[in-house]
Amino acid sequence: VNNEEQAILDAYQWLVKLYHHLLRHSKDGKKALEYLYSRGFSDEAIDQFQIGYSPTSRDFIAQFLEKKGFHKQVMANAGLLTVGNDGNYFDRFQARVIFPIRNHLGKTIGFVGRTISDQEPKYLNSPESSLFKKSKLLYNFDLARSEIRKKGEVILFEGSADVIAAHQAGVTNGVASLGTSLTESHASLLRRYVDTVLLCYDGDNAGQNATYKAIQLLKKVGCTIKVAALPHNYDPDQFIQEYGSDKFRAQVIETADTEMVFLMKYLKKNFNLKLEGDRLQYVERVIGEIAQLESSIERDHYLRELAEEFNIAYDALSQELKSRMRNIK
Ligand code: CTP
Ligand code: MN
Ligand code: MN
Ligand code: MN
Ligand code: MN
Repeated sequence: VNNEEQAILDAYQWLVKLYHHLLRHSKDGKKALEYLYSRGFSDEAIDQFQIGYSPTSRDFIAQFLEKKGFHKQVMANAGLLTVGNDGNYFDRFQARVIFPIRNHLGKTIGFVGRTISDQEPKYLNSPESSLFKKSKLLYNFDLARSEIRKKGEVILFEGSADVIAAHQAGVTNGVASLGTSLTESHASLLRRYVDTVLLCYDGDNAGQNATYKAIQLLKKVGCTIKVAALPHNYDPDQFIQEYGSDKFRAQVIETADTEMVFLMKYLKKNFNLKLEGDRLQYVERVIGEIAQLESSIERDHYLRELAEEFNIAYDALSQELKSRMRNIK
């Protein structure tokens, strides 16, 4: 850590406290607090995750940082301030709920700021820097690490709101990659701690496509993968708010699909199974996936399922599988 990076860490540390204080105690922060309550965030979670509020002001933070003796240009490099056309520095985060992003050591190195009105963009993040690298960071990894190790399983969410909602629901081994898709660094980091990754992305098309991509990466590093099946267009946090913690644990987390069940559901959407040609193509596609399974018991299980569902002779599927597997090896 060089001098500039140390100054940035110090500034973040001050601002976590300041933003949290403003959320809790300022008049301006009241609507942010109400917004959080309306989304089901508890006081306990707001404190534990050090959630804050950046005030509705052009230069409240700029002045605060100046008084503390921070260099404004360094603070702009860190994404806490922005330089205007007039050369003046002003606050990057204005009128937003602030989620501090901590690294694995528990040091805050970035913020995610969510608007509480209809301001665009909905989410504003700290910019990439030598300290804040989204491709390597997982939100909540520092708090969840011991639980992840204990359970031998990590749950991957899309956003910080989902991680916190799950935490409140008693699911405390959750992390999120922030607005970026999962990277190889994320995958190999997780592999060092767990065998099993449970993907719990949003129940919309974007979430399902991201799940498919994440599976490819996690397979490469040798993870066992499970996929939570949310009702269409539900986010985890929305599900929890609507149906409660017990149902979330029982119907989403504990009954997650296997990787192959997800893949079959996912691939089905690309075919019109009423058409014979599509049916055959789908079957071939699924056999290609089955061929990649490590366990012969699992391969046999899904092959039988496929034979039954499409009324195809098991032996024919089995022969096809064997030739696929020769091609892989
Ligand atoms: N994200 C981001 N930048 C964006 C959109 C999203 O960084 N422009 C990140 C945020 O961390 C967010 C996550 O990606 O939590 C998931 O995005 P999305 O599912 O679109 O968030 P929503 O569920 O729509 O957010 P909210 O529930 O707050 O409305
Ligand atoms: Mn989403
Ligand atoms: Mn969205
Ligand atoms: Mn959401
Ligand atoms: Mn979402």
